[in-house]
Amino acid sequence: MKGIILAGGNGSRLYPITQGISKQLLPVYDKPMIYYPLSVLMLTNIKDVLLISNTEYIHLFENLLGDGKRLGMKIHYKIQEKPRGLADAFILGEEFIGEDDVCLILGDNVFYGQGFVDKLVKASKNNKGATIFGYYLNNPSDFGVVEFDDKGKVVSLEEKPEKPKSHYAIPGLYFYDNSVIKRAKKLKPSARGELEITDLNRDYLGEGRLYVELLGRGFAWLDTGTYDGLADASDFVKTIQKRTGLYVACIEEIAYKNGWISEEELKNIGIQYQKTEYGKYILSLISDKRREK
Ligand code: TTP
Repeated sequence: MKGIILAGGNGSRLYPITQGISKQLLPVYDKPMIYYPLSVLMLTNIKDVLLISNTEYIHLFENLLGDGKRLGMKIHYKIQEKPRGLADAFILGEEFIGEDDVCLILGDNVFYGQGFVDKLVKASKNNKGATIFGYYLNNPSDFGVVEFDDKGKVVSLEEKPEKPKSHYAIPGLYFYDNSVIKRAKKLKPSARGELEITDLNRDYLGEGRLYVELLGRGFAWLDTGTYDGLADASDFVKTIQKRTGLYVACIEEIAYKNGWISEEELKNIGIQYQKTEYGKYILSLISDKRREK
């Protein structure tokens, strides 16, 4: 399976902060925002990733992550000239995806919770259609919304509805079989001029091939697209890390635990970052064998 991170967009809800920088390079507590979605793909065991961003910022991501070798991965880059919508990722990514299935994650989504890796692995193994997630929100109007019947079967999907038919928002994490490319190419832009992921998901729904997994109570899904969202995500990560001593989205830790980099490679990164808590944490992974697996 291949992975795509969509990290373009305007970031206009964060102006003036994002007037001169990509939203996905802003810090969420102690690391760049892009680490969080990248870590989700890594936890899914996806080694081959395409990062999509705007012309102005793509090289900044390349400066940060390079070709991925440092993490035992392959990271490729592609420019999206204009924010043409989330489903545009599969048109831009056609060559990269090739014959594989693909997971798309938005560059500004943060996920954290027990049982997440099992859900990711399960979704990545379902190659019969599409898997999306549902997350209970008090007011899901800013997102795609999924409605169920009594048996939990999906009845409808709506994009940013004024009057949502359920409380379940669809987070920015989607798994598709290879037919997503030809489906995306058939889409027409919506009234707001975007190729809508909701239309793509409706296409799967129409064929009975859309699966929805619920992320339960106690699971955290944070959207960092507004001032408060960004500040809340930073506070959340800080609280979890300080309390447990275990890091959220430490990409070097995941690469090491996945067996993609050696102890020595991990140590070298830790030494490079040793003036920070982040670097010390990386070094502690080697010395403290009592650590949680
Ligand atoms: P949004 O938050 O919908 O849009 P945005 O990031 O441009 O922000 P704003 O509404 O403040 O102007 O996008 C969600 C994520 O998807 C975000 O990480 C940016 C990314 N994105 C793209 O990369 N390309 C696109 O065409 C769109 C619509 C979004």
